[in-house]
Amino acid sequence: MVYEGNTMRLEELEEEMRAIERKIDAFYVSLLPMLNRERSAHPVKVEPGMQTQLPQPEAVKPAPVLKAQMQPRLQPQAQPQKPQNGNYRVKDIGLAGQGGLKIEWAERHMPVLMRIRREFEASKPLSGVRIAACLHVTKETAVLMRTLKAGGAEVALCGSNPLSTQDDVAAALAAEDIKVFAWRGVTNDEYYWCLNRALDTRPNITMDDGADLISTVHSKRADLIPNVFGGQEETTTGVIRMRAMAADGALRYPLFAVNDTPTKHMFDNYYGTGQSTIDGIIRATNVLLAGKNFVVCGYGYCASGIAKVARGMGANVIITEVDPTKALKATMDGLRVMTIAEAARIGDIFVTATGDKNVIRAEHMAVMKDNAILANSGHFNAEISIPDLESISASKRRMRDNVDEYTTRAGKRLYLLAEGRLVNLAAAEGHPSEVMDMSFADQALCAEYLAKHAKDLEPLVYDVPEDIDLRVARLKLASMDVRIDTLTDEQKKYLSSWKEGT
Ligand SMILES: NC(=O)c1ccc[n+]([C@@H]2O[C@H](COP(=O)([O-])OP(=O)(O)OC[C@H]3O[C@@H](n4cnc5c(N)ncnc54)[C@H](O)[C@@H]3O)[C@@H](O)[C@H]2O)c1
Repeated sequence: MVYEGNTMRLEELEEEMRAIERKIDAFYVSLLPMLNRERSAHPVKVEPGMQTQLPQPEAVKPAPVLKAQMQPRLQPQAQPQKPQNGNYRVKDIGLAGQGGLKIEWAERHMPVLMRIRREFEASKPLSGVRIAACLHVTKETAVLMRTLKAGGAEVALCGSNPLSTQDDVAAALAAEDIKVFAWRGVTNDEYYWCLNRALDTRPNITMDDGADLISTVHSKRADLIPNVFGGQEETTTGVIRMRAMAADGALRYPLFAVNDTPTKHMFDNYYGTGQSTIDGIIRATNVLLAGKNFVVCGYGYCASGIAKVARGMGANVIITEVDPTKALKATMDGLRVMTIAEAARIGDIFVTATGDKNVIRAEHMAVMKDNAILANSGHFNAEISIPDLESISASKRRMRDNVDEYTTRAGKRLYLLAEGRLVNLAAAEGHPSEVMDMSFADQALCAEYLAKHAKDLEPLVYDVPEDIDLRVARLKLASMDVRIDTLTDEQKKYLSSWKEGT
């Protein structure tokens, strides 16, 4: 055990606690046969959301030293609070209990953000700061909202995509007195109505996934700008939009490109989009991927993650690209690369993740096979041309949730998933909590940084400070029990000098 003076380092203490947890788990596992006998003697009916209290044989009771740690597991399920005010618009506030369970599940898989929450609870770095967030309303976003609130912030949340809101999660947050304006299936007008209600709180920080808050503030709500310290952007498309604003000289407050920090895009975009996009396609269609010609448009962070997972499931992956270096990388990764015009003829499943528009157009749809499936995982529903699909089709019907069948005039059927919106969020649950743990830890620490340093910042696009990124990486490694080496003084000297050679 390492001590610094008389103070045990927090990481060491946490490591010790995890070791104790593992021992407790092992102890429970050793008692399973006895517990199972008790269970069959006293069957318990389990309702969704109900905390079941299993009969506890005397020997299972935690030793006094472990009691504080065990208590959270043994406490009854917290009931959603009654809304304190009318500051929300969600589909059904009655879904709060179910949403609360989902959030709790995410919290179990987001150790870094939970660690930051504990620090925020103690130091309240966001005391009095108003934050408007336009993010996918998922269980992971809820963990971030709770963390910002724990840091003292007043938070208002709206959805960043018409089909990505999880209604039960929105209800759970509303019941916790967080201002929420979001429900799945908003129309375009409703989308902007919700966004404007979040802006009505006169935020000091805007937190975006796609830059709709930033662009609305600058174009339609400029009166809010004097209150705004800065903004934070979660996704590639939003960063592209805000860099374009900066290049146009239109930017009026500092922005952090959270997407561009390594602990975000190297994990969230690659592993997160990779796994959850395939999850969305499978949940929507339940088709077998093995043996299918699976066309991925793009080979950036998201698309290469999707290609990797599809390949792992036995699909024949084909890549289309416009960037020669990315195309070369895909080729050397062992994938077939061709134009979309060629791929259109042979693909069974198509997924776009480019951040571009009209990547799949009428001329491609025209040569596709009967039964081809089309999905998008890029930010906007502009990558597959839906107007083109409508125009070549004679009829359309909803086959199953998140699957629309378009029958062309020639009688060919094409299947569009999730109305061309991000399939991983609309047809599944979005990224796994483990990757959002890092992305949202970056967001939380950036908000703290903005609250402290806003006065020193110009209206420019900033990278996330490196020490935030490295801290998130270290905390994540520690939560996974992974240790790494540190440079010796000799190595530091060697790596910073040019004098030593052959
Ligand atoms: N679904 C999600 O949950 C999720 C998560 C993160 C990012 N995104 C979004 O996914 C999109 C891609 O993000 P990224 O981080 O992978 O970006 P990226 O810049 O790393 O990759 C985009 C790739 O698409 C290629 N491309 C552009 N136009 C093309 C075209 N017409 N045909 C073929 N390839 C083309 C580019 O050359 C580039 O290699 C963005 O819209 C981003 O906001 C979605």
